[in-house]
Amino acid sequence: MPTKLAKQKIAQTFGKASSSYDNSARLQRYSGQALLSFLPLDSDYSIADLGCGTGFFTNIMSRKYQKVIGLDISSQMLSFAKENRNSSIDWIEGDIHALPFEDNSLDVVFSNLAIQWCNPLTDVLKEIKRVLKPGGTLVFTSLLDGTLFELKNSWQQVDNDQHVIDFKTFDEIKNDAIDSGLMIADLKQSSVVLEYHSVRHLAGELKGLGANHVSGKTKKGLAGKTSWQKMTAAYEQFKGEQGSYPATYQLLSAVLIKE
Ligand SMILES: C[S@@+](CC[C@H](N)C(=O)[O-])C[C@H]1O[C@@H](n2cnc3c(N)ncnc32)[C@H](O)[C@@H]1O
Repeated sequence: MPTKLAKQKIAQTFGKASSSYDNSARLQRYSGQALLSFLPLDSDYSIADLGCGTGFFTNIMSRKYQKVIGLDISSQMLSFAKENRNSSIDWIEGDIHALPFEDNSLDVVFSNLAIQWCNPLTDVLKEIKRVLKPGGTLVFTSLLDGTLFELKNSWQQVDNDQHVIDFKTFDEIKNDAIDSGLMIADLKQSSVVLEYHSVRHLAGELKGLGANHVSGKTKKGLAGKTSWQKMTAAYEQFKGEQGSYPATYQLLSAVLIKE
């Protein structure tokens, strides 16, 4: 499990991004929309959105379901959500690793691009299984190994520091899901490539999302000017014919059932 300090850092970095998040969340909007289509239809259901961020999808679900909870580790994200979203939603500051919910209390758990910040995944899935009712459904998306490979590769040509977080492989996540005791109803990988007009645009989007905290990074703060220039020069190898800079995201979407 990430240390308390690491979790505070994650919460702080996302918190700082709470007002810029919605303008930077192209990938999150895409994956969340796709995830909504997996939700069961019964409007009486109780549903929790784990790592809800600014509550964009929590809000959409509150139009459909009677009891909707948005949970996040960042108090600033939740303040933004409270101010901007449907007042019927319960907002809870909490940690996905130790959910503040009773056993067998939720029909559905939804989580869009938050679980990649949690470790070990099997424990997190077991914790979600604990709070789901028998027959309950977990739908989530996460990121897989290969995500941001262009950025990772470009930094590798500059230094040995860690600039991009490590993502699990599809098989690792599949094994974690099996170990959790949840039944796999659907597990898919898809590749999404977003285009940026510059490498600075990509870095700005990651910062705008608050997704720029890397726990294994040894040098703190921004990269020095020379390192940055070397990295952006290395990124030129990926530049497309139209002059844009691609960044690849390997998306995982999962539907797991508590039998
Ligand atoms: C990339 S954002 C996704 C937000 C939202 N689900 C969406 O679709 O826009 C990830 C969110 O997960 C939250 N998060 C990260 N680790 C968490 C944890 N251990 N417990 C609860 N929330 C966490 C962050 O604070 C952040 O708001």
